[in-house]
Amino acid sequence: MTNTTGAKIRDKQGNTWLYSDTVKDHFFNPRNILFAGEEDKYDADAMGRVGSPACGDEMVLWLKIDPKTEKIADCKWQTFGCGSAIASTSMLSVMLSENGGMTIEDALKLKPQDIMERLGGLPNRKIHCSVLGDKALQAAVNDWYRKTGQHDKIITKGAKIIDDKLNITDHDIEEAVLEGAKTLEDVQKKLKVGVATPEAIPEIEQLIRFYSEKYYGAE
Ligand code: FES
Repeated sequence: MTNTTGAKIRDKQGNTWLYSDTVKDHFFNPRNILFAGEEDKYDADAMGRVGSPACGDEMVLWLKIDPKTEKIADCKWQTFGCGSAIASTSMLSVMLSENGGMTIEDALKLKPQDIMERLGGLPNRKIHCSVLGDKALQAAVNDWYRKTGQHDKIITKGAKIIDDKLNITDHDIEEAVLEGAKTLEDVQKKLKVGVATPEAIPEIEQLIRFYSEKYYGAE
């Protein structure tokens, strides 16, 4: 993958640490950021707040939504996350509000890879930073659904238990993959436990493949 100046920003394993010009632009000039102290003045219709278990960082995203069309009329955000989280969320906020605003239904279909593409890529170790904005968006949309009484639409991504002896869930596997695990052994190392239920291994391996493809694309 190359950026606009042709510099290589990510090899197949995502091992380089170079950032694209677009990432740098959004980091140095973040769009739609809400500065501390301005929260009360911004009359948002919905708000989502999430923290990243991977690094302890927090992301807050506010939405103004047209109640008739359910299009995102405006979007603001704040984060304690790193430069990659700032650039990714800045780009996400542009994508949500450009061309008259996305419907919230379309916004929920955005994948981390869509943001990554617009940014010209991110090093693999920074992909979990881009997921932060995505999760805050989902929390904000749930807040909107709750406030507007659309309870049947609330997204409940409940964790599924994969290994019932050790209570390993699909969320644990997802976090391990976001922290760089690529194999069953890597996942066991990240979780600091082995797998107690051998029958769970095929499902764990399937989830590793699923999340690897979701966040890092097909090999
Ligand atoms: S947001 Fe925590 S390292 Fe990027």
